[in-house]
Amino acid sequence: MLNYTIISGSIRQSRNSHRVSLYLMERFNNEANSRAQLIDLAELNLPVMTDLWDKHPQELEAYTQLANTLKNSDAFIWVSPEYNGSYTPALKNFIDHFPKNAFYRKPVGVVSVSTGSLGGIRGGINMQELAIAVQAYALPQMLLVPQVTTKFDLSGVLTDSTYTKQIDTFMTELHWLADALKNKVVSGQ
Ligand SMILES: Cc1cc2nc3c(=O)[nH]c(=O)nc-3n(C[C@H](O)[C@H](O)[C@H](O)COP(=O)(O)O)c2cc1C
Repeated sequence: MLNYTIISGSIRQSRNSHRVSLYLMERFNNEANSRAQLIDLAELNLPVMTDLWDKHPQELEAYTQLANTLKNSDAFIWVSPEYNGSYTPALKNFIDHFPKNAFYRKPVGVVSVSTGSLGGIRGGINMQELAIAVQAYALPQMLLVPQVTTKFDLSGVLTDSTYTKQIDTFMTELHWLADALKNKVVSGQ
């Protein structure tokens, strides 16, 4: 069983990218050998980082719970819209709150979302770089979601069946990497 944690990176009112987070959580939970949970940054209301979480005694319990969630995850999915060629400040702020070992040697699949036609490729590449910076393994295959509002409805239902194959490929590749790293077996097959 692989435990996935999806981090939904937009805190914007009327956000669109959260649709993709909801969809992926449902998909991973419907697989026999995976479980997914969601960290919704819009619900967390994290302050702008002024120091690592363990330097905030008054907020320690909340952060400790989050740190435990990260620690117990086998793999992560970072979902973010592209904002001005990168991922959201909310995603970076969340990640900066934790020490590097929160993501150390864990796989991260990045999902970059846009209402435009390019699918946020710059945001995706920047998220992969961020994953490497926290010593995680960035999945080479990113999931790009252009024109998100034509693909998913507000509750996270896929409304464009032609997009299924790209999602399936992303999930298969992430699952392979997560399984290989968890079991420390990388045979190349
Ligand atoms: C501050 C800001 C910057 C944006 N920059 C980009 C961009 O660089 N590339 C792009 O394709 N879309 C860009 N967009 C459009 C977003 O793709 C679109 O608003 C999307 O719905 C944002 O995701 P969210 O609704 O989950 O916040 C930007 C939107 C905002 C609010």
